[in-house]
Amino acid sequence: MKIAVIGTGYVGLVTAACFANLGHAVIGVDKDEEKIERLNRGEVTIYEVGLPELLLRNLGRNLNFTTNTDNAVRVSEIVFITVGTPQGEEGEADMSYVVEAASEIAASIKGYKIIVNKSTMPVGSTRLVERVIKEKAGGEEFDVVSNPEFLREGTAVRDFMNPDRIVVGTESQKAAGIMSELYRSLKAPLFITDAASAEMIKYASNAFLATKVSFINAIANICEATGADVKEVALGMGYDHRIGFEFLRSGPGFGGSCFPKDCQALIEIARGSGYHFYLLEGVMQVNREQMELTAGKVERRLGELSGKAVAVWGLAFKANTDDVRDSPAVEIVRLLLDGGAKVRVYDPQAMENARTLLPEGVEYARDPLHTVTDADLLLILTDWDEFKMQDFRKVGELMKSREVLDARNCLEPLSIRRLGFNYEGIGR
Ligand SMILES: NC(=O)c1ccc[n+]([C@@H]2O[C@H](COP(=O)([O-])OP(=O)(O)OC[C@H]3O[C@@H](n4cnc5c(N)ncnc54)[C@H](O)[C@@H]3O)[C@@H](O)[C@H]2O)c1
Repeated sequence: MKIAVIGTGYVGLVTAACFANLGHAVIGVDKDEEKIERLNRGEVTIYEVGLPELLLRNLGRNLNFTTNTDNAVRVSEIVFITVGTPQGEEGEADMSYVVEAASEIAASIKGYKIIVNKSTMPVGSTRLVERVIKEKAGGEEFDVVSNPEFLREGTAVRDFMNPDRIVVGTESQKAAGIMSELYRSLKAPLFITDAASAEMIKYASNAFLATKVSFINAIANICEATGADVKEVALGMGYDHRIGFEFLRSGPGFGGSCFPKDCQALIEIARGSGYHFYLLEGVMQVNREQMELTAGKVERRLGELSGKAVAVWGLAFKANTDDVRDSPAVEIVRLLLDGGAKVRVYDPQAMENARTLLPEGVEYARDPLHTVTDADLLLILTDWDEFKMQDFRKVGELMKSREVLDARNCLEPLSIRRLGFNYEGIGR
């Protein structure tokens, strides 16, 4: 099939490359000229395992990139909208990029097309995009369907190719048939439902996962006070198939470009519908406090922050991505700086993105060992494998004092303590 993907960020680029690899003819479109130039040179603009190989295999054959929405829409049967839906001023999803993309698509529609809302959009957005297109596209025939994306950064290619389910929200039989055909080669349950339910499935899924994270973080805090070990507790809970092991890892709080903004948007959707979502407000509150608690632990361990050297490993919101949007690490570094600490940071992939968000005064290290040199405390905020595999004997020799706060519970406490470290995790 012929596909256009409008917006080649984390979701759009993965979508475009994966569909191309499945044999479809794909044109990726972005407003960002530099991004498109780099993609056309075969340079991947985000860090995502497996993506460079897909790009190189398909580029110039059934995968092309352009800044020209008009042409891409004209030659395509299916047009995906994968632009950002960031948090608006009141916490709601900012739909301005979607509306802009929909207007541009409308101007180029000739003949039947399916417009696919793949970005995360509030309930009612399928109707909104329909209205925007109808206004500009005259009498052209089209369908707008909701097809939310569930991929996770870090395993995005694998997730796209092996989804747990594919959700398609539409009342149009014709569109449902074409969407089924599009995804036919992916062996996953295709769940066809109405557009509003499809939109809600995405928000409800993210809010549920965020709830699991805040729940285990709350349990971790109680574990600390009562002498239980949250890792053991989560394991014991996870064996119950009604609960499962996933998203029960305590840490410095959830972050990234989805959970925080999607939870906030769902709180706003609920408010607009007349329901006060206390539960989800609690989830967000626990998350904010978890970041403060983590920074507070550093202060408690050091006596005071002022003038103390803190080495931070990890800035990305989780391992295997360069994404620092709403990363707990970025927030915690800010809190440490506010308290007067001297902070030196390192991340294998996210340094460049972090520079745009972190305040002045942060020192950027060359590698993990450079980060810890003369440090009063090592704080681990992202669980990259690179950190777990460090030579901690060497780390200890380089540090001023052997203090480790492992906010991801990714080290083995016994072996670290055996090397003379004063080790602390979260909830252990
Ligand atoms: N990042 C994730 O892990 C993830 C997972 C599932 C769903 N989502 C959702 O997918 C959507 C996209 O997220 P993302 O992380 O890929 O965003 P992103 O910011 O990485 O990418 C958005 C891209 O769209 C481009 N763009 C904006 N307006 C445009 C226009 N009119 N024409 C062409 N290009 C345009 C931007 O230049 C940018 O490159 C969001 O709604 C997000 O919530 C994200």
